[in-house]
Amino acid sequence: RIAFVNGRYVPHAAAQVHVEDRGYQFADGVYEVCEVRDGALIDVTRHLDRLERSLDELRIDHPGERSALTLIMREVVRRNRIRNGMVYLQVTRGVAPRDHGFPADVRPSVVMTARAASRAKADAQAAAGIAVITVPDNRWDRVDIKSTSLLPNVLAKQAAREAGAYEAWFVDGDGFVTEGSSTNAWIVTREGTLVTRAAEHGILRGITRGVVSDVAATRQIRVVERPFSVEEAKTAREAFITAATTIVMPVVSIDGHAVGDGKPGPVALGLRAAFHDGVE
Ligand code: PDD
Repeated sequence: RIAFVNGRYVPHAAAQVHVEDRGYQFADGVYEVCEVRDGALIDVTRHLDRLERSLDELRIDHPGERSALTLIMREVVRRNRIRNGMVYLQVTRGVAPRDHGFPADVRPSVVMTARAASRAKADAQAAAGIAVITVPDNRWDRVDIKSTSLLPNVLAKQAAREAGAYEAWFVDGDGFVTEGSSTNAWIVTREGTLVTRAAEHGILRGITRGVVSDVAATRQIRVVERPFSVEEAKTAREAFITAATTIVMPVVSIDGHAVGDGKPGPVALGLRAAFHDGVE
């Protein structure tokens, strides 16, 4: 395997950054995960738009032209011979002696890796559906920035694993679901309307979330952006999650309570099947 680290393609086992990288010391960095399907990067333009927004919000310099970043992403995919899987792209503020404030004259660090993922395995998982648990949303209020600062997400995902679930949904102080630890959360109402939380400051504006909204529109499915409670989700007709790593993944259980008839629903499975028709 090959990784890209600050201008070089290096063997994955030897890929290193400095111990005083601010990503390592402060989680002072941002990232993107882009799906690779049949060797192609999916929604790369939207991912790079969001990367630039995250960088701008944290006042980290852009590490280079988007065209150069895209080229390197493609090269990492090619060198690793990935047909299906994902590319991980991380930009940190850079290397400097440890001090909380921004260092002067620092160059951002750029790291990219790629990994294969089995489509058959993901499709089998979608056919079975996944379980989610709920946990209090104890994150900061700038989760709209795709930062590598992910400790609450790490702890939530681990709690899910230990409960035999695939994902943990964060719940705000009013009992409303915000999003998953690494996915956006959706329900389908009895009327067949898709509901997902508005992407203001409480959630990450998922790229997959945006594409699913577009796909729904072409299929005459109504999408409403509003908060939904855990109670509403448990009694919804369907529920599902979205992310570049899962695309549309049906949720069949919430905190041990079956959603709908406890099987993946037609709306979620339909959106999953149609997803890649609409992407550039
Ligand atoms: N996670 N919400 C959170 C908190 C996320 O971390 C992610 C993505 C999403 C979905 O965004 P998108 O559709 O753009 O992938 C929502 C990536 C996949 C990860 O951390 O691995």
